[in-house]
Amino acid sequence: MDILRILIDFLKIYISPMVANGIPVVVSKFIKGRPLDRGKYLSDGKRILGDGKTVEGTIFAILTGTLMGAIIGILNYYSLQYCFTGFLGSLGGILGDITKSFFKRRIGIERGGMLPLVDQLDFYLGSTLFIYLCPICAHPSLDVFLFGIIIIPLLHLSTNYIAFKLHLKSVPW
Ligand code: CTP
Ligand code: MG
Repeated sequence: MDILRILIDFLKIYISPMVANGIPVVVSKFIKGRPLDRGKYLSDGKRILGDGKTVEGTIFAILTGTLMGAIIGILNYYSLQYCFTGFLGSLGGILGDITKSFFKRRIGIERGGMLPLVDQLDFYLGSTLFIYLCPICAHPSLDVFLFGIIIIPLLHLSTNYIAFKLHLKSVPW
């Protein structure tokens, strides 16, 4: 069935960036991370990134996402392609999230403030860009990518709501 093929292809490529995107919330509960921007401000008087983007969260995200990619690779006949896809997807995803925070600060949204759809799709678009720029990565077909555009915001909102209920996040988005 086509939808099953789309779902499997989607998971093989995007499970790593999805895990990478979720891990920092858990890490932040155990480690008080150091801000990536070292607490610095730009000339507009606002933080470069804010306290929501930490060194530890970023490192753990990339490591965990790459580990997921390695597992997917092993499950796919020891395919190195999925290992690279996991690494670049996680790196691109986390950089997408960081880029989003930079622009959120510039338009005056405080750390943790909501920016609908952008908050949900930042890592997805970042990971897709990086995966596409990598010639040896597994590339999603258009239907797989569009499936993600619909499913990611729904998944993101529901997992964040669960994280909020578990007291892992202070806001439900
Ligand atoms: N986090 C982190 N390092 C990252 C990304 C996230 O430590 N690179 C942790 C932070 O504790 C952050 C939480 O995960 O508060 C949730 O991530 P996110 O929603 O992306 O950050 P926000 O706090 O909403 O900050 P922003 O407004 O900048 O997106
Ligand atoms: Mg947020």
